[in-house]
Amino acid sequence: MPDYILEARGITKTFPGVKALDGVDLRVRRGETHAVVGENGAGKSTLMMVLTGVYRPDAGQILIGGKPVSFHSHEAAVRQGVAIVYQELSLVPSLSIAENIFTNHQPVNSLGFVRRSELLDRTREYLALFDLDTVLDPAALVRSLSPANQQVVEILKAISTDPAVLIMDEPTSSLTEVEIVRLFENIRRLTARGIACLYISHHLSEIFEIADTVTILRDGRFVCDAAVKDVDEDFLVSNMVGRTIADIYGARPDPASLGPMRFEARGLGRAGVFAGADLRARSGEIVGLAGLVGAGRTELGRAIFGAEPADTGTMLLDGRSIAPRSPRDAIGLGIGYLTEDRKTQGLFLDFPLSANIAANRLKRLSLGPLVSDALVDGAANAAVREYRIASGGQGKAVRNLSGGNQQKVLIAAWIGIEPRLLIVDEPTRGVDVGARSEIYAFLRSLAARGTAIIMISSDLSEILGLSDRIYVMKSGRIAGEIAGADATEESVIALATGAAGGASQ
Ligand SMILES: Nc1ncnc2c1ncn2[C@@H]1O[C@H](COP(=O)(O)OP(=O)(O)OP(=O)(O)O)[C@@H](O)[C@H]1O
Ligand SMILES: [Mg+2]
Repeated sequence: MPDYILEARGITKTFPGVKALDGVDLRVRRGETHAVVGENGAGKSTLMMVLTGVYRPDAGQILIGGKPVSFHSHEAAVRQGVAIVYQELSLVPSLSIAENIFTNHQPVNSLGFVRRSELLDRTREYLALFDLDTVLDPAALVRSLSPANQQVVEILKAISTDPAVLIMDEPTSSLTEVEIVRLFENIRRLTARGIACLYISHHLSEIFEIADTVTILRDGRFVCDAAVKDVDEDFLVSNMVGRTIADIYGARPDPASLGPMRFEARGLGRAGVFAGADLRARSGEIVGLAGLVGAGRTELGRAIFGAEPADTGTMLLDGRSIAPRSPRDAIGLGIGYLTEDRKTQGLFLDFPLSANIAANRLKRLSLGPLVSDALVDGAANAAVREYRIASGGQGKAVRNLSGGNQQKVLIAAWIGIEPRLLIVDEPTRGVDVGARSEIYAFLRSLAARGTAIIMISSDLSEILGLSDRIYVMKSGRIAGEIAGADATEESVIALATGAAGGASQ
């Protein structure tokens, strides 16, 4: 048997103006979990697209089970045994679990009719792989499932083609801690069946937990591969970014140095979504908002921003009563909101970086009644420089930037308006360690200039590392408050899950 189930040699792929991959090698063994790590824009997703036949490489070779293959289409790659779990879910919400799993290959009888009972039985067998056959109904509509269960369906859909290699590009980016544990169990079951998993993540702790081997990419080039047990985090980081990063969160300011009360919410609620939220943030303070997905954190943030206004309670900004009815109102008051969902709510994907940077602050970039191209270009250039955004040419639509660089554009756009209150929702989702430490530094310095920041995050280490004070939400209510310096992973989880015995009402 050949040593490697999947091998890529010297893969090169150029897009206009960027060499995304430059002679990259990858060697994947049967049944292993193989992590691919690298900074934003290093070429990870592009490499996966090449391996799944979406992009044709300019040069290089792919071998499966030792035999050279060439993929003329994505379907060809699937037929040869390479499957991918899409990061942006590809399911049809209005169809059942069974119909989604077997989208292109439903069992049919000789007349071409779908054999429904066989379809449901086979779906049940797939669900049983993850012990979900008694939990999920094969006929249930995908729309009715939690995001984590939708991802399970997405994985089952991918493995229904019987792949030798399953690619997961940042599969944990929208999962909670508990769901991640379950995903890892599922990955172990797949590898035990001989399927190799290619796993991309910016969370290095995940790499150490799940991966056997790691390949490091930097600037589109292969740096090295190694057995995970032989390397440590410093090794990965220094090979990914070419330098070591000491303390990614920076120092927490002395609570005495915080400014006056900037924002206060009293008894804020929105029927059926969240209720009775009392929350304060001082000028210069970073307030963490933790909780499980679905606890109401984003909804609370969006209410403060006027996107889906609260229907009970009051809000004060710098001591004055406010009631924003729309994001436009909120921005006018000096409130910003960095969305967790940059693809659908945050960015104008088909427009270049400059338009995205300018969108929130047209007034400031105008001379008289007209928006000044020179001022817009100046702001865009400054953002690219300050945030080290790898834009690959500023005329390019932001859709074509790597995920982390898109996130930096969004952050630059909001920090640029110097808001009085900035709500950031999952600010570093999909962002590499290097860029993450930069984003933390940007948020810290924004706070040091007086902005109050409310940070919604599912990343506990980020909540613990950055927050001056932490609110924990559970089931639509604020279950408790902890000083950042005193908080531990356990204390936050206890409040978030209600395990604290009486801590939540
Ligand atoms: N369709 C495209 N057109 C033009 N440039 C592209 C396209 N896709 C990717 N690129 C560029 O190729 C480079 C590699 O991008 P890629 O998405 O592979 O990075 P990545 O390692 O997956 O990053 P991230 O961690 O941010 O997801 C980047 O410079 C990106 O801007
Ligand atoms: Mg990517």
